Amino acid sequence: MRLVFLGPPGSGKGTQAKNLAEKLGLEHLSTGDILRAEIERGSEIGIKAKTFMDAGALVPDKLILEMIKDILRKRANGFIFDGFPRTAPQAEGLDELLRGMGIQLNAVLYLSVGDEVLISRLLGRYYCPKCGLDYNLNSRPPKKAGLCDNCGEGLRQRSDDTEEVIRRRLEVYHQQTKAVEDYYRQKGLLIEINGAEPPDSVAAAILEAVA
Ligand code: AP5
Repeated sequence: MRLVFLGPPGSGKGTQAKNLAEKLGLEHLSTGDILRAEIERGSEIGIKAKTFMDAGALVPDKLILEMIKDILRKRANGFIFDGFPRTAPQAEGLDELLRGMGIQLNAVLYLSVGDEVLISRLLGRYYCPKCGLDYNLNSRPPKKAGLCDNCGEGLRQRSDDTEEVIRRRLEVYHQQTKAVEDYYRQKGLLIEINGAEPPDSVAAAILEAVA
């Protein structure tokens, strides 16, 4: 199965894509995670991407499509894209790559959530840099403020999870990524899911939609 998770920052793409990938034995491909790993490694792609990401802007299509081409070659069988495509040219580029491989997408799951809920979720998001556990002050706070329950390490926030950058990311979503919704709606691939429900209800709705 080949799926795309689409939705604004904080809509739950990462949470739900990871969960579904585990359930269905698919590869979870998050362009955000891949770019953050490149930044951590100090690679050329990472150095180029960091400026855009810290400003809440999109990384240029050319760089993203080159990265995706490489990734797709190794994972044609089953995958879930999370955070890609994000512009109409990226959606067209993906179609071209899939056509060249003789495969196509099964569905695009669009998680809809209002902006104010998204801001509160993202401001509450923390992670442990040592063991990778995720926390959210609204729904899954650590037992001791600021410390990981599992390993005691100090928790961190993503550098783009400040209120100013979150608002910029939302603006960018409405200006540039909304077009991707229309692109897939016209192709009859878009399935809208209410992402404002609790995570388990969202997961159940997704599972029902792709069954
Ligand atoms: P990326 O990492 O993709 O970030 P994003 O799209 O802004 O999305 P997030 O990861 O912030 O949120 P999410 O929707 O995955 O929600 P999550 O499950 O984490 O991209 C970052 C940057 O990289 C971009 O700004 C851009 O610069 C660059 N980039 C990436 N891909 C690109 C591309 N294709 N082209 C160009 N540039 C690209 O949930 C958020 C929080 O809410 C968590 O704490 C979670 O626990 C909580 N939560 C989740 N679901 C629920 C729920 N149902 N109820 C309550 N809380 C919930």
